[in-house]
Amino acid sequence: MRILVIGSGGREHALVWKLAQSQRVKKIYVAPGNPGMESQAELVPIQAEDLKSLLSFAKKEKIDLTIVGPEVSLCDGIVPLFEKEKLPIFGPSKEAALLEGSKIFTKQFLMRHQIPTAAFEVFESIEPARKYVEKSAVPIVVKADGLAAGKGVFVCGTKEEAFQALDFLFVKKGLGEAGRRVVIEDCLQGIETSFMVVASGREAIPLATSKDHKRAYDRDQGPNTGGMGVISPSPHLGLPLQEKVMSEIILPTLAGLEKEGRFFKGILYAGLMLTKEGPFVLEYNVRFGDPETEAILPRLEDDLVDLIESALQGKLLGKLLRWKKEVSVCVMMASEGYPGPYPKGKVIDGLGTVGPEAIVFHAGTARQGDQIITAGGRVLGVTALGRDLAEARKIAYGAVSKISWEGVHYRRDIGL
Ligand code: AMP
Ligand code: GLY
Repeated sequence: MRILVIGSGGREHALVWKLAQSQRVKKIYVAPGNPGMESQAELVPIQAEDLKSLLSFAKKEKIDLTIVGPEVSLCDGIVPLFEKEKLPIFGPSKEAALLEGSKIFTKQFLMRHQIPTAAFEVFESIEPARKYVEKSAVPIVVKADGLAAGKGVFVCGTKEEAFQALDFLFVKKGLGEAGRRVVIEDCLQGIETSFMVVASGREAIPLATSKDHKRAYDRDQGPNTGGMGVISPSPHLGLPLQEKVMSEIILPTLAGLEKEGRFFKGILYAGLMLTKEGPFVLEYNVRFGDPETEAILPRLEDDLVDLIESALQGKLLGKLLRWKKEVSVCVMMASEGYPGPYPKGKVIDGLGTVGPEAIVFHAGTARQGDQIITAGGRVLGVTALGRDLAEARKIAYGAVSKISWEGVHYRRDIGL
């Protein structure tokens, strides 16, 4: 098979790495990819937003299967575009991708289908929003409606912080169109965890569980990021709780989508808060998590192409995935300053010194002649497997310690 992977981050590197192990895969293209993937795939210089060029490329190269990493391509409607040309593609319809593309749509959808989520109100201008905050209890959460690359959510400990968030969105228009409409919701207390399934219509099978570490610094301090490290499995999601999440959240969501004529096939990723009253939905993503994928795929025994094909053919029912018994730890190495502004172009040393005990997934990297340089906030995801967390941590951090660049930052407590 000839496969096209869309995207350029650590998630896409993990997808390419796993696909390259499949007997069924003859050739992998990745658009635009990054230098970490060069040995396994051919890099194609087309951006994930450039749907027209991606389509002509897939037609010209007779691609048998396209796998989409980033949400922008999905929310912009790459799936219907490819399907119109009979090109197999793994991802939800544009109507279903709204679960990630619009927080207002998602909150109203969850209410319509009686799926647990925090109480909320929607606002289109600052005055009523301020009044609502005025009479609400804190902490309170302010969210931009649209896609904001992880920068659209403000968990506010004080009313003053909430006013500032509203001012940023409505007056300063800090997120542009994405912040034109705003959700204000109750702040939930509990343990945060995520849960991903492979879905096709009403059917779904869970992927291995995982736990992201969202804050920038150790002991969950500092600002929220796209994710600074992941362990798999998640210590918070035993089998009974997974079954509860499937029956109370995932399956009702898929049934609701189907009822509304929004066809879903792809990865459904639920961000959950495990509260005293049970699991609540914080958000949905309609794609593989990043860096969750970097921790989960190294544990998957089965062929990824087989799995995706079963989903495309609507044959997930009764399928069981096999996972390695070992646990995994993925440590993200980031640029100094991330998630705020950060420098680029720092030369990365030591990449060649990491042995086969760990996998170094490239995220924000670029090639400069013979050197690999930093080119993003999250630069590398280093994953190791071990009999337990202590062993996986030891191997992962051993590999991390061999790699360096000026200003490198990573959390030291992933999996502690
Ligand atoms: P989201 O993009 O909606 O997942 O929000 C980003 C982060 O904000 C989440 O990972 C949570 O840590 C936090 N968050 C979002 N909504 C809530 C909520 N209702 N209560 C508490 N924390 C929240
Ligand atoms: N790690 C969070 C996400 O993929 O959205």
